[in-house]
Amino acid sequence: MNPVKVGLLGLGTVGGGTVNVLKRNAEEISRRAGRGIVITHAAAKNLDSTRADTTGIRLGSDAYEVVNDPEVAIVVELIGGYEPARTLVLQAIRNGKHVVTANKALIARHGNEIFAAAREHGVTVAFEAAVAGGIPVIKAIREGLAANRIEWLAGIINGTGNFILTEMRDKGRDFADVLAEAQALGYAEADPTFDVEGIDAAHKLTILASIAFGVPLQFEKVYTEGITRITREDVAYAEQLGYRIKHLGLARATEEGIELRVHPTLIPERRLIANVDGVMNAVLIKGDAVGPTLYYGAGAGAEPTASAVIADIVDVVRALTSDPGNRVPHLAFQPDALSDKPVLPVEDIETAYYLRLQAADRPGVLAEVTRSFADAGISIEAILQKEPPAGSPDATVIILTQRVRERQMNEAIARIEALDAITGTVTRIRLEHLASN
Ligand code: HSE
Repeated sequence: MNPVKVGLLGLGTVGGGTVNVLKRNAEEISRRAGRGIVITHAAAKNLDSTRADTTGIRLGSDAYEVVNDPEVAIVVELIGGYEPARTLVLQAIRNGKHVVTANKALIARHGNEIFAAAREHGVTVAFEAAVAGGIPVIKAIREGLAANRIEWLAGIINGTGNFILTEMRDKGRDFADVLAEAQALGYAEADPTFDVEGIDAAHKLTILASIAFGVPLQFEKVYTEGITRITREDVAYAEQLGYRIKHLGLARATEEGIELRVHPTLIPERRLIANVDGVMNAVLIKGDAVGPTLYYGAGAGAEPTASAVIADIVDVVRALTSDPGNRVPHLAFQPDALSDKPVLPVEDIETAYYLRLQAADRPGVLAEVTRSFADAGISIEAILQKEPPAGSPDATVIILTQRVRERQMNEAIARIEALDAITGTVTRIRLEHLASN
């Protein structure tokens, strides 16, 4: 089947990320979509500044040429802002093209008009990337939580604001200095007052509330307060009282109506969401059946946002090519594209370990234990010895190791358990740092 042709509006941070991820993961993505996906035509104001590899893409500065290109089936709008994005998207819809957008301002302000036009012309408008960057929270609410009556949701949904509050708290940095860094990193909006005055969060909250509660988009009714008046002292006092200050978007369904508000908020520091720091986003959603669920991840940046944009493109492609009654493949990949890669036996996995052992409290025992690890080629990360409890001859030794194959660890543990100085068996708990790099 021929690849689906995509037209791209905007080659900035997210546009560049979308081009790069689509190229890098082309094979994996087409296994999921059931068809190849290629960007054939792109428009940007400043073509020279893009960092994307645009080989093979027809480039220009006129976005209307892309939305009017008869070959393009899906228009991806990554320009941002209200206009000309609105006019371009409406034109694409009138031309019978599906639209994918990351533009929260556009959806929050003009979504009702855009969706009506899309229904009239029988096309899809997808906007996962508009809220919380790479976190698939729209899909989670719309599909995963479909059984629930959503009672409330609370989100840290502006990465720039959260980054600023975190740096102020941890490093005592100045507001302006942190904001400049967020701009340089490509997190902040073109107009950064949208971030620090809460407008960006209000756009996103508008969208979340609509899909959570089934109400029209009502951006103009959101109470919106930014973080510009938060001082370092506020942050410190809140901390002394056991709270963190977070800039939250909150939506709640009450008997009387729906609360829609964006403002700085103290949250008990023991809440998971209170510990969402830096540019990360998180959305906590309370459904009547499922209870609270929390969605966490990168809320801005080139490739995290591209991840959501491309997921929407894949959804549109699936809808274009599959049996409409069975759009999303049961195992996420198309049945004829499943891989025959083997599942590894546990001896072949690689991980770090936490080990706890009971060792006689006499000279040379620890040296014997560490020698066993050295002989097995295992590197120790940390070691901690606790005094024997009163009346016990054995000390407890905790060892953290670096990553190693399980087979190697089995051999080392067998040798250690065979030592005279060791009592009983060695307790092992696998340890994963789960770092993003
Ligand atoms: N300016 C936004 C933020 C970008 O900082 O979260 C992602 O929407």
